[in-house]
Amino acid sequence: MSKVFIGVAWPYANGPLHLGHLAGSLLPPDIFARYHRMKGNEVLMVSGSDMHGTPITVTAEKEGITPEEVATRFHEMNSEAIHQTNISFDLFTSTHTPNHEETVQWVFKTLVEKDYIYKKTSNEAFCASCQRFLPDRYVEGTCPHCDYEEARGDQCDNCGKTLEPEELKDSKCKLCSSSPEMKPTEHFYLKLSAFEPMLEDYVIVNEDHWRANVKNFTKNWLDSGLKDRAITRDLTWGVPIPEEGFEKKRIYVWFEAVCGYFSASKQWAKESGNPDKWKEFWHDPECKHFYYLGKDNIPFHTIIWPSILHGVGDMNLPYDVPANEYLMLNSEQFSKSRNNAIWLHKYLERYDVDVLRYYLSVNMPENRDSDFTWADFVRRNNTELMSALSNLIHRVLTFTKKHFDGVPQKAGRLTEEDKKMLEFAKEAIRKEGEAIEINKFKDGIGELMALAHEANRYFTASEPWKVIKEDKELCGAGLNTSIQVLKCMAVGMAPYMPGSAQKLWDMLGQEGEIAKASWDAYLEEIPEGVSLPEPKPLFTKMDLDEVLKIEQAASEEESEEEPEKEKMPIVTFDEFMKLDLRVGKVLSVDPHPKADKLYVLKVDLGNEQRQIIAGLRPYYEPEEMIGKTITIVANLAPAKLRGVESQGMLLAAEDDKGVVSLLVSDREITNGSKVH
Ligand code: MF3
Ligand code: ZN
Repeated sequence: MSKVFIGVAWPYANGPLHLGHLAGSLLPPDIFARYHRMKGNEVLMVSGSDMHGTPITVTAEKEGITPEEVATRFHEMNSEAIHQTNISFDLFTSTHTPNHEETVQWVFKTLVEKDYIYKKTSNEAFCASCQRFLPDRYVEGTCPHCDYEEARGDQCDNCGKTLEPEELKDSKCKLCSSSPEMKPTEHFYLKLSAFEPMLEDYVIVNEDHWRANVKNFTKNWLDSGLKDRAITRDLTWGVPIPEEGFEKKRIYVWFEAVCGYFSASKQWAKESGNPDKWKEFWHDPECKHFYYLGKDNIPFHTIIWPSILHGVGDMNLPYDVPANEYLMLNSEQFSKSRNNAIWLHKYLERYDVDVLRYYLSVNMPENRDSDFTWADFVRRNNTELMSALSNLIHRVLTFTKKHFDGVPQKAGRLTEEDKKMLEFAKEAIRKEGEAIEINKFKDGIGELMALAHEANRYFTASEPWKVIKEDKELCGAGLNTSIQVLKCMAVGMAPYMPGSAQKLWDMLGQEGEIAKASWDAYLEEIPEGVSLPEPKPLFTKMDLDEVLKIEQAASEEESEEEPEKEKMPIVTFDEFMKLDLRVGKVLSVDPHPKADKLYVLKVDLGNEQRQIIAGLRPYYEPEEMIGKTITIVANLAPAKLRGVESQGMLLAAEDDKGVVSLLVSDREITNGSKVH
């Protein structure tokens, strides 16, 4: 018996899980874990919600609630969806726990003591109007690599490159759109450069069993030289830095999230009543470590995390990191903002979980991006799960039940065909297991389905409905063969479709949970005479038109919910009070010399005159405005608009039909009066 550690990338708790998460990082390790448990190996599979960092705080700011509320809401929702998908974590926790905080701070301090973490002052993006530093996702701008205009300070979603905020061209504050300045601030840095020689060796030792994408990403990073990286941020949501004077900063989310693999192992050990048990997985070099993730997470698992572990010392490094490419939806990336996603919890409300597990297994983005379409989904359900798998099982079992009492006897009458069939079945399951062991999950399920097709061919060719009339004993031997083949199939289904495998297991008169049976159970035949319960169909036919109708209705409903979710940020009373709103009379209105939509207004504020540029030419004639008492923001930083200075901003309303109306005072009032 050996030990296997399985780490699964921690999904950000800033939104619901979608099918991309399942195909990319959740389903593969579950297949792997279920297989290894059946092989009798001791498995520890952990993950949790990634609760911190700017993905969460940006979402919170957008929705006007606290980061904790955002993270807790999605942690609960995603934990439930994972549970319903039968992903068999030994522990799915979160990064917002006392145990995690304590563990991360211990790792941090250990690396400080060993000189792998040091302090340095550097210039970082600072927004003068928001009066704050702008970490990662708070800066947006143009990607220096691919010119994509909506790149974020941490990453470009178009070309996938990781970025630093200062690399962006035309960078803007995400909160107020003004352009940030650079200001000095002190942060902690991880001395990545110190790990370069270790990592070079590490890659050489492991690359033979790494996927091409993992090898390439990692080597590219190493080849371009490792720079020390800031591992703290100007945020107040996250794991606190265990050092005085850093109360307003937090540990960088990626540094602490990867430590989650370790903290969750400790938590699991504590909860299992043997608090030291994690050591067997982390110190014993015989225990291999596997990490499952999408390709954008590769360097964090093959460079940063190994460096941290090596720095701490005496810890097992990742052995394999079978990163997946992306699952696409209608040839585009899953995206919340573009409403191009299928949410896992919504899927589970409407369809069978094992159909999804099956579909994403045969369609796993292992070596290239793969595409989810409902048409393909329904087609595979109907032709593969229904016709090949479910019907075969049903045909064999109903026919047997009709003519025999329990599993028929072989009576020494197995034909060459029968024996060949049995060999084929055993060979298929053996090959399936081999494929799973090397993380080739598509190949694994391919073996299982090839067996289903062969078993159908065999059953039809042996024509039991004819033989039963001529030679019942011979027919029984053939049915016995088919039943043994079904047992092989039940074992082979167990890692991929655990719920359906259990149903088949029960229908074959087997006791207990198939998940607790041995993988090698496929080599043992079901004894003659075992009684067979009433068979029930495993899968049902789906109708594409119906599915499309359901999905269409659901997506319309969701896009109606959308505007509500995209609320404006909440402004505190103090923030609102910062605005200096005043009334003033419009003295003159002239066309802007260089812009045909703009006017240049002179406004009387009592003790001063202001020049204000307003985009009102499509909506107002000058004489409609002159003499009116309007409302302006008087303390807005002056800005030049096409060469003419604007010293404030006037207030006007606009409806969604494009009607624009100035906010004017409805009675005589002194110019310059404050608006409350
Ligand atoms: N939350 C990250 C993401 O969704 C993944 C974190 S993986 C971990 O991309 F190892 F850092 F936990
Ligand atoms: Zn700003």
